[in-house]
Amino acid sequence: MSPEQQAKRPAVLVCRRVFPEVVERLREHFEVETNDEDADWSPAQLAARLRGKQGAYTMPTNRIDAALLDACPELRAVCNMAVGFNNIDVAACTARGVLVTNTPDVLTETTADFAFALVLAAARRLTEGEHYLRGGRWTSWSFDTLLGLDVHGATLGILGMGRIGQAIARRGALGFGMRVLYHNRSRLDAATESALGASRVSKEQLLRESDHLVLVVPYSAETHHAIGAAELALMKPSATLTNVARGGVVDDAALAAALRERRIAAAALDVFEGEPAVHPGLLALDNVVLTPHIASASLRTRLAMANLAADNLIAALGRGPQAGRPPTPLNPELLRG
Ligand code: GLV
Repeated sequence: MSPEQQAKRPAVLVCRRVFPEVVERLREHFEVETNDEDADWSPAQLAARLRGKQGAYTMPTNRIDAALLDACPELRAVCNMAVGFNNIDVAACTARGVLVTNTPDVLTETTADFAFALVLAAARRLTEGEHYLRGGRWTSWSFDTLLGLDVHGATLGILGMGRIGQAIARRGALGFGMRVLYHNRSRLDAATESALGASRVSKEQLLRESDHLVLVVPYSAETHHAIGAAELALMKPSATLTNVARGGVVDDAALAAALRERRIAAAALDVFEGEPAVHPGLLALDNVVLTPHIASASLRTRLAMANLAADNLIAALGRGPQAGRPPTPLNPELLRG
């Protein structure tokens, strides 16, 4: 490549550490700055690094808002390595002509597997059992050691019936013979409902009737504390709650109180308000399974997400075989002009 061609290459920032082979792919097209120490940059540090660059390869911990966009007027594309994009102000990006992409589909089945693992773990007291054993408290078999709740044949409730919600419903209905209820803004078409054996109900009915309630709604101002004290009060004392959506969908303080007072039986949480901090009330309880935001973290899926984010960035900045046609845009209206 001539020095002239080299000079024309767009500049991009990879905002957190990612697979080296994916960074190498980006280097084929761009001048790439990386965050090798994987620092959690402050907004000012992120703006300083992004200034003068055309592309940002972001992770859920990188906040892209109007102030940052105003500080980085040369930015043309923000490509998030996650399906969730509550870290990005998409409207502010669109207003400034900045394309935003996420990584749907490639993580659907892996995330649904993990959600189901959490449902099972909460219902059958899996981590509690392990702590009991490792703590040396298991001295003899007994008929009533750690009695839990059945998952098979129970009622599975799903709040947010997008791709991941449907994949969880499929596991529940086909694998565990569960009755599936869901609440979502829009109704699934009749064929999908009948294939999943799923019925759309009001949020109140979902809360009242679910044995195992799973949250898969995207986080937004509208879904902030979608599950708080009032909602928890409607749930059965024998119910479990699983959150693989985002911290903030659940009021963690209200959940800790409900679990402590056994107003619901158990919970399993992969995401938290203010993570990586976890509400101390949750950390003190046995009847909650806690995992560090890893629902999509199989090696194959994280690699697929990383490559999809790279495909998006390469295409969004007019490079590669899909130049100008990033596969998964969130503001595709910018591509039509
Ligand atoms: C992870 O949380 C994602 O949104 O992909």
